[in-house]
Amino acid sequence: MNALITGASKGIGRAIAFELASRGYSLFLTARSAHELEDLRLELLGKTSCKQVHCHACDLTDWKQIDALSESVLQTMSPLYALINNAGRFQPGNILDEAPGNMEGMMRINFESAYHLTRAVLPMMLAHKRGHIFNMCSVASLEAYPGGSSYCISKFALLGFSKCLREELKHSGIKVTAVMPGATWSDSWKGVDLPKERLMEAEDVARAIGCAIDMGPSAVVEEIIMRPQAGDL
Ligand SMILES: NC(=O)c1ccc[n+]([C@@H]2O[C@H](COP(=O)([O-])OP(=O)(O)OC[C@H]3O[C@@H](n4cnc5c(N)ncnc54)[C@H](OP(=O)(O)O)[C@@H]3O)[C@@H](O)[C@H]2O)c1
Repeated sequence: MNALITGASKGIGRAIAFELASRGYSLFLTARSAHELEDLRLELLGKTSCKQVHCHACDLTDWKQIDALSESVLQTMSPLYALINNAGRFQPGNILDEAPGNMEGMMRINFESAYHLTRAVLPMMLAHKRGHIFNMCSVASLEAYPGGSSYCISKFALLGFSKCLREELKHSGIKVTAVMPGATWSDSWKGVDLPKERLMEAEDVARAIGCAIDMGPSAVVEEIIMRPQAGDL
């Protein structure tokens, strides 16, 4: 089966790539950095039994590049079974004093890119009447916290999108899962002085996705909420 993973080059996306490779999926990976994708492709082919890994470097904040990406997926990875909308970024800020454009920038990559990419690839999934879409939300989709307002706003939007999509696709054979992890080690936490065990491992988030994708056709995991054992930071 074929899976498209956005933001696959690092962190949680990279862990999902290894998880799905170990489950026998053929992978289509995207991120902006072509050389990081190529390094990952070689690592996946060398370390797992995965036979097919396609990479396509693109910026998901550019809708023309999303159209080109979906065309490339159609040509090389049809039928597409899984879409993992994972790419995103965290930029701190409060509504009253953040830099102009902070909110718009995060809305574009954290929510709008998932909306546009899903619309672009959904027709090919609908044609096969089966598939699974994962949207990488966050515990910030559930609760607001100071210092991360626009990130929360964008992740609330992504959860809203995920819930609407789930309703629309209930009778289509396509599953929709919102994934809401708490703090998870990745580049976005680089330099933070905390004990290793205080944050979750990206591999654990990936494992939860692996379990959800393995359910039989009559069941869907609608939401996955995960937190560090010691709670939110
Ligand atoms: N880590 C956490 O604590 C945590 C908790 C909850 C939710 N999340 C969510 O999980 C997802 C992954 O987070 P992470 O911590 O693993 O992040 P990360 O390590 O910073 O990786 C982000 C990935 O997204 C790609 N990306 C960023 N901007 C992009 C753009 N404009 N176009 C295309 N690709 C882009 C990056 O590659 P390039 O830079 O090469 O483009 C990279 O592959 C995000 O949606 C994040 O909000 C993270």
